[in-house]
Amino acid sequence: MKSEILAALYRGEDYVSGQELCDSLHVSRTAIWKVINQLKEEGYVIESVPRRGYRILERPDCVTAEEIQSRLTTKLAGRRVVSYETIDSTNNEAKRLAEAGAEDGTLVVAEQQVQGKGRRGRSWVVPARTSVMMSLLLRPQIRPEHASSVTLVMGLAVAKACRQFSGIEPRIKWPNDVVADGKKICGILTEMSSEIDYINYLVIGAGINANLSEFPGELREKATSLYLLTGRQTDRAGLIAACMEQFECCYEKFLRTQDVSLLQEEYNELLAGRDTAVRVLEPGHEYTGISRGINARGELLVEKEDGTVEQVYAGEVSVRGIYGYV
Ligand code: BTN
Repeated sequence: MKSEILAALYRGEDYVSGQELCDSLHVSRTAIWKVINQLKEEGYVIESVPRRGYRILERPDCVTAEEIQSRLTTKLAGRRVVSYETIDSTNNEAKRLAEAGAEDGTLVVAEQQVQGKGRRGRSWVVPARTSVMMSLLLRPQIRPEHASSVTLVMGLAVAKACRQFSGIEPRIKWPNDVVADGKKICGILTEMSSEIDYINYLVIGAGINANLSEFPGELREKATSLYLLTGRQTDRAGLIAACMEQFECCYEKFLRTQDVSLLQEEYNELLAGRDTAVRVLEPGHEYTGISRGINARGELLVEKEDGTVEQVYAGEVSVRGIYGYV
């Protein structure tokens, strides 16, 4: 009920009367009053004026389930939101929930991770309450070899949400990063539990550098944040909701064809380093070519000097611009 009351208060341009809330939520005035008091205790500044109603004057900077849910209109992505102050890793928690039977579309978020995970066994460390750390649990009925495309779908969704929400012009560094100004603003880690021909579940974890004001030494050259790019603090709950809205829209298109053909054009427009030289690092094999965008299977097309085109599958491969990180 908290998220519904928040949603009504955010929607209302002026005061929202207690009676209106009672009628729409089918609860008593006392129940509404209790929730309003809980919200005040959580840091919301809510004005209550007799005969007019309630109005939010200030909200705390937090990524609680209620804050996110109050802005969501999705059917699947974030249909259930679970939030934590501190967790080991939102990916780990999403996997535990998945093993316990949690439903398709469950979203796990946290203010802080103490064992945040990056790709290839690296750690993902960010100060508490500064960034977005979220993991979406999905149970798609697709073949396991198509799962890596869902990472591309999330990359596209995050890039579009950051553009819509912060007004920046992000690019996607195939397959897993979103970048802006040549530096990383988001990393994505997809984990899967599957049988040979069946996916039990996927967990798509995304870390978005929202309000970080600095990065330690070696990262300074490679990473940036929405705050450093815009000079403004990002409302992280709003950004998470925007990511879920965008994801749902792109994911529906993906499921329709079980490939990224309906997203390919948009993805390629946002692809970093398109038509420029890239170095492909595959285990035991490295080569240089020109990036020509992704195909319908989500593979990166790399044109080699002899004119042949390699279709690079997003597995153990890493693609770098030859002049820097992007
Ligand atoms: C990378 O670029 O190496 C991927 C980073 C992924 C980080 C996110 S933060 C939320 C989710 N939980 C984790 O432990 N990792 C992902």
